[in-house]
Amino acid sequence: MSRFGVKSISLPRLLNRRILLFLCAVVFLYVLRLFYLSDGSELQLQLGKGEENVKEEENRPSIPWGPETISFDPPRPAYLDTPLVEPMVIRLAIISHVFEFERRQVLRDTVLRGVPESDVHIEYKFIIGNPKEGLGNWTTWLQRTKEDWVYGDVHTVPVTDIPERLSEKRFGALKWADSVPHTEYDYSMTMDSDTFCRFQALARRITHTQPKLAPRTQPILIGRMGDHVTYFKNTVPDGNINEKDEDDYVRGPWYPYPLGIGYMLSSNITHTLMNISPPLPHHVIYPSDDVMIGSWIAGLRNFHDPTIKFETTERSSNPPPLTPVKPTPYLPYRIDTEVVNDVNGWHDIKSARESGTEGRIGWETVCVHRMKAPEMRALRAREELKGEWEDVIVKKQQVY
Ligand SMILES: *[C@@H]1O[C@H](CO)[C@@H](O)[C@H](O)[C@H]1NC(C)=O
Ligand SMILES: *[C@@H]1O[C@H](CO)[C@@H](O)[C@H](O)[C@H]1NC(C)=O
Repeated sequence: MSRFGVKSISLPRLLNRRILLFLCAVVFLYVLRLFYLSDGSELQLQLGKGEENVKEEENRPSIPWGPETISFDPPRPAYLDTPLVEPMVIRLAIISHVFEFERRQVLRDTVLRGVPESDVHIEYKFIIGNPKEGLGNWTTWLQRTKEDWVYGDVHTVPVTDIPERLSEKRFGALKWADSVPHTEYDYSMTMDSDTFCRFQALARRITHTQPKLAPRTQPILIGRMGDHVTYFKNTVPDGNINEKDEDDYVRGPWYPYPLGIGYMLSSNITHTLMNISPPLPHHVIYPSDDVMIGSWIAGLRNFHDPTIKFETTERSSNPPPLTPVKPTPYLPYRIDTEVVNDVNGWHDIKSARESGTEGRIGWETVCVHRMKAPEMRALRAREELKGEWEDVIVKKQQVY
């Protein structure tokens, strides 16, 4: 130690320090490079090549769909050309898997970018869970970090990201929707990550074809309905680790439930559903995670009707199967929800695999399901639909 309190450093140690610093810099640069390179399309946006990117996308050769898959024959419904007096306000949750990075990017690029604010205000989040085996590797960790940094549009529900937990993700999605006052929006909407929606057309279609609907003061469910008979009771605690455990259920009368394509719940009923105590049953094993939504709506009405018969099933066999039961109502009063089953508006894309809910994409289609990423890009680029999104000049983003 010298007189002035400055350590004199021996040459070898000084070298060590330099080497250490150098190594740190190399690692830092490497991380930075990975950060930008882990997704090519984003890199282009970051470097301000966004506009070229968009043009390129529009010039992309379209997918050779036949007229049985897609056809914009007349008549073109008049509501498509009738603007809204007030924009529809939607809180949109897209159910996604933690590692579906490309899928999320395609949805940002095709469905979400440039939705006209004069028709629809969308606040959206991708809803993911926690990866089963941690973040897996360095690349995926980096991609997730970058996604949060650049977009901030991913909401993690604290459950493992496996099919058995999908119903908990759906419940978490609605919790997120209900995290703002229900007087501030019209609909909470949940959709699958393989669904393509035309939001301008969706808002105009609902508003003009169903003018009586009042989402802020009326319980409403909109989507494509299937039918089911099971009614659930919340018996599995949150945080339960056995993924095979499911809430108890009984059998009752048939009711409509919205298929996973997507569904819209009015802000009025969203708030009601999310503020019931104890919480509504939401430990329902895939593929009944969408059935769950319809079962709540049906339970809020049917549990109050003394003439309706409910009975136990083979699984909830204590008491034994087919014993009549009287389910405890979720609320002390009955709620009648208006259910809109929009068969022409919401459907699957035509495919070899018969789903029973397929349809031809046309003017009335507002949400189409089972779409692959290139199909989403091709649909957005279709001449007939182009005008439904505003040409967003992608801003040069700051390179950090
Ligand atoms: C990292 O993990 C993801 C998700 O499991 C996987 O798809 C990817 O191939 C892995 N990458 C490497 C380099 O191991
Ligand atoms: C929903 O609307 C009904 C009927 O207008 C009203 O009685 C109820 O209080 C509303 N619920 C919420 C949560 O605003």
